Amino acid sequence: MRLAGKVALITGAGSGIGRAAALRFAAEGAAVAVLDVAADAAAATAAQVGERGGRAVAVTADVSVAAQVTAAVAEAAAALGRIDVLYNNAGVGSSGSVADATEDDWHRAVAVNATGTFLVSRAVLAHMDGGSIVNQGSVAALVGVPAFAAYCAAKGAVVALTRSMAVDLAPRGVRVNVICPGTVYTPLMEPMLRARGDGDLAAGLARTVVKYPIGRLGTPEEIAAVALFLASDEASFLTGSVVTPDGGMTAV
Ligand SMILES: NC(=O)c1ccc[n+]([C@@H]2O[C@H](COP(=O)([O-])OP(=O)(O)OC[C@H]3O[C@@H](n4cnc5c(N)ncnc54)[C@H](O)[C@@H]3O)[C@@H](O)[C@H]2O)c1
Repeated sequence: MRLAGKVALITGAGSGIGRAAALRFAAEGAAVAVLDVAADAAAATAAQVGERGGRAVAVTADVSVAAQVTAAVAEAAAALGRIDVLYNNAGVGSSGSVADATEDDWHRAVAVNATGTFLVSRAVLAHMDGGSIVNQGSVAALVGVPAFAAYCAAKGAVVALTRSMAVDLAPRGVRVNVICPGTVYTPLMEPMLRARGDGDLAAGLARTVVKYPIGRLGTPEEIAAVALFLASDEASFLTGSVVTPDGGMTAV
């Protein structure tokens, strides 16, 4: 019960890594606010937490829209009393290199991944008295991933923002760290994997796995476990850290 008595807000918790984190945080004793732009998906995650005996509320917002974020965070804080842990997990992919990406693709990747991290953090800090913020980066912030230009740039911004937040928020007793996962097979990655396989998903997966010394991709639960550690008091001396659960991908 590493989060006993804590309240956690997780963005993008209607799917993939965020859903796995909601289930794990709740199993470790946290009350969880499940935030997602997809109301049905958020409700489904909250229901799964409830079925397993945990406590969760679902709130809906697009993390790139300030007014929606403020309202959803206030709703979560009112329902659960306060917020001790924020996992800025919501994200979207992108497609193309700088030579062929569209401006819309660029702006969307930056808006959700980077601006969303800023907006949700700002809103949550109004309800946070010490605690832990975990941001979601990617190996794409650390190495060039082919045909993923806007995403790489946006995740690079999240890593830099994490260091800035760690410095600014330390006096308030808030730790801020960033996770940079390697590839996890989720809906977010499917278009990129399919493109890498020239339309064939299995081929795309095979071409990706060879980049991983550990010989496989990651699972949502493995990333959620890292988020749990950073969220918990066991990580009390970590702030401003870049933690890279990537099966050795960036070690090559
Ligand atoms: N899957 C991977 O290989 C991988 C690797 C590194 C980093 N990440 C990052 O992990 C995070 C979660 O990714 P995932 O693979 O679980 O993706 P996913 O697509 O399974 O889940 C993302 C969730 O975020 C929600 N979301 C999207 N845009 C939103 C918005 N504007 N406001 C609120 N919610 C929004 C979606 O509705 C969805 O429920 C993302 O930040 C992603 O960039 C994923």
